Amino acid sequence: APSDPDLVERARAAKAKLGDKVFVLGHHYQRDEVIEFADVTGDSFKLARDAAARPDAEYIVFCGVHFMAESADILTTADQQVVLPDLAAGCSMADMATAEQVAECWDVLTEAGVADVTVPVSYMNSSADIKAFTGKHGGTICTSSNAERALNWAFEQGEKVLFLPDQHLGRNTAVRDMGMSLDDCVLYNPHKPNGGLTAEELRGAKMILWRGHCSVHGRFSLESVRDVRERIPGVNVLVHPECRHEVVAAADYVGSTEYIIKTLEAAPAGSKWAIGTELNLVRRLANRFAGEGKEIVFLDKTVCFCSTMNRIDLPHLVWALESLAEGKVVNRIEVDPEVASFSKLALERMLALP
Ligand code: 13P
Ligand code: SF4
Repeated sequence: APSDPDLVERARAAKAKLGDKVFVLGHHYQRDEVIEFADVTGDSFKLARDAAARPDAEYIVFCGVHFMAESADILTTADQQVVLPDLAAGCSMADMATAEQVAECWDVLTEAGVADVTVPVSYMNSSADIKAFTGKHGGTICTSSNAERALNWAFEQGEKVLFLPDQHLGRNTAVRDMGMSLDDCVLYNPHKPNGGLTAEELRGAKMILWRGHCSVHGRFSLESVRDVRERIPGVNVLVHPECRHEVVAAADYVGSTEYIIKTLEAAPAGSKWAIGTELNLVRRLANRFAGEGKEIVFLDKTVCFCSTMNRIDLPHLVWALESLAEGKVVNRIEVDPEVASFSKLALERMLALP
């Protein structure tokens, strides 16, 4: 549905009043009505870098989810203020690893005698506490666009990787991109004593995968890949690495949201694509490329939007911008200084990856 013209006008006026004082970042999964007001759009890696590249902006309005706004706060200067237009915009995957659970896991690894040779690699989709744990124990952050480089780096520092919190990105990168076998990976279940693993299993593994997943990408199935191949002969299947291993193994192309966009930009007219990622992005791409004769469909019609990404809508954005224009900072995301300093260590290791 087209946006309410009154809200569009109010967003424009508030942004104009704020001028260079405000910088609006929009993740690719955001609604069209929000993307329209983003100064920059990107995947989570690009947005982290872009947030850090605007030290002159007093306010960073982050249209995305909580962990992204936290990362922006960690990477920006002390007097820059980061605003998340709706505080309920969390990420169910990030919530699957709490600081207590991860500390307990480290105790289990210590007990099994493997903590000394284990390097934590945490997906950007994690809380600042988890990023701080990672920094403290010599590890790095990664995103879906640099997971392989992060793992290569980690295996130069140690013998094993504890990969948090997305089992799928960890497994897919290790097996699809780095040639490890499924047997090199074990799954640590934080809800079971000792993660549900024996000390021997931990000692034998190269990749210790945290049992977390994305509730949106986890719903694409091998069946949806088979169905779309049958329905659309010659279709290219392009999915995000948060999808399950069998889906990724059956796909033709795998990559981050930014990679998905670049791949479609470079695709020839007349090509057909089924995309397995969040629906706002797939719809936007289908509309954008329809005129160029590229057919783009959603991989599985039963999968829906990321409900927390969708929480940021035009009314919330207008409220945040108008408040800032009146000098009132609402929904500020501020990471505790000690947590921030260790998280920053881990984030900077990622930014320095070759
Ligand atoms: P990217 O934008 O890094 O591909 O991440 C996808 C995602 O799920 C963010 O929550
Ligand atoms: Fe989290 Fe998945 Fe939503 Fe990304 S798409 S914010 S990983 S729940």
